[in-house]
Amino acid sequence: MSQSRDHWSSNAGLVLAATGSAIGLGNLWKFPFITWENNGGAFVLVYLVCIAAVGLPIMMAELLIGRRSQKSAVGALKEAMSARWPGLGKLGALVGFWGVLAGFILLSYYTVIAGWSLYYFVKTVGWTFGGYPVGMSAGDLFGEQVSNAGLQLMLSLGFSLGTIAVVYFGVSRGIERIARIFLPILFGILLLMLVSALGMGGAGEALSYIFRPNFAELTRESVLEALGHSFFTLSLGMGAMITYGSYISRKHSVVKASGAIVALDTLIALVATVIMFSVIFSVAGMRDEVRDSTVGMLFISLPELFYSEVPFGVVLGPLFYVLVALAALTSTISLLEVVSAYLIDQRGIARKKATIGAGAAIFVFTIFAALSFTGTGLLSTMEIFEGKLGWFSTADHFVSNWMLPTGGFFITLAAGWFMTSKSTRDELMDGSEPRWFHYGAWRFFIRWVAPIAVAAIIVFVIRGTDFS
Ligand code: PHE
Repeated sequence: MSQSRDHWSSNAGLVLAATGSAIGLGNLWKFPFITWENNGGAFVLVYLVCIAAVGLPIMMAELLIGRRSQKSAVGALKEAMSARWPGLGKLGALVGFWGVLAGFILLSYYTVIAGWSLYYFVKTVGWTFGGYPVGMSAGDLFGEQVSNAGLQLMLSLGFSLGTIAVVYFGVSRGIERIARIFLPILFGILLLMLVSALGMGGAGEALSYIFRPNFAELTRESVLEALGHSFFTLSLGMGAMITYGSYISRKHSVVKASGAIVALDTLIALVATVIMFSVIFSVAGMRDEVRDSTVGMLFISLPELFYSEVPFGVVLGPLFYVLVALAALTSTISLLEVVSAYLIDQRGIARKKATIGAGAAIFVFTIFAALSFTGTGLLSTMEIFEGKLGWFSTADHFVSNWMLPTGGFFITLAAGWFMTSKSTRDELMDGSEPRWFHYGAWRFFIRWVAPIAVAAIIVFVIRGTDFS
């Protein structure tokens, strides 16, 4: 089967597709918010350390595990884990399956927020032409849209269909092609927004909030949150990068690609944060308004400010929600690809059938997530994890706190301890690796630093720390 396996057409194709997976709501929605919650500076610095010391080595590990086996998550981990001790193959397959399940659940609720970007795009286009309605409260508007079940279902359905349509066409003709078109547009929009935001009065204060560390404000929870987020934002711990790695042909370097993906993801998260904070700090009283609402910044504060404060906001408003939608779509396609590739590689189902089947099954759970904000009924009120009300928050908590760290832990073991050093060395040192790369250093990080750090997350989660 491996001769007929679809591959990325070039190194740039791989980097764009994987960067598309990494850049998503994690960068535009979660990161700015947790940076805000954790008082900026020191948190950002810790996050950068986590990305470099844990995220980057695991990115390389996932891509190399995929490239070596030319199989998606389940088959690849089975092979990686059993390289030295054949008995561990079953455990490997289980870890792979755990990742597929994580992809399934994550996609089911991620689609709902992605759908909101469609709603806000339509709204902002309307405001650009018709003017922002006098006296309208953006908070009320948000509340109305999330609790409107029919609207939520339509938006999520639209987004799911878009995701299925891309994955349906496969790796090079679907996923890579979309990434090649969308990512440059996404970078362009962000650049325009950055220029506009840096011209605002609050830009200086925003920059010092984000980049001036004050270690007195750093708590143990902040460190864990930074570490946990580095998994989410880089699409690690669930086999997405293993699956994307399995479409890398032997000509292309895993190390260079990993460096580019991680650097771009981090850059975009920082740029998005600079943009949002510059806007927020430019408006008196806005800090209090944002307070502690995760969705507040993206869907409540910003829409209004585009029409009152931001230079060229009438153009940038709709463009911003295009940006959110594009970023989300290049992530949802990677999530659906994990599940579809499992059906294709392990169950022998043809791609088109696998994609539609997986997409439809996941959509059933998307319905649960979409109805989590209606305020009534079990889907809005269920509480499995303390303080996490409704299906949406339950799923997000379970995936971010439990599934990604546990999956990531076993992936570090697979690459650092269970594969032979000869095989990992062959994958990473293939003659095209960049000069900054040192195999011994990678091996140290993947054997020691990453698993210990991830184990620490798991221990704290078991003891009840919440960082989702
Ligand atoms: N990295 C994506 C984001 O930051 C989320 C994601 C996680 C996508 C895991 C795929 C796999 O939004």
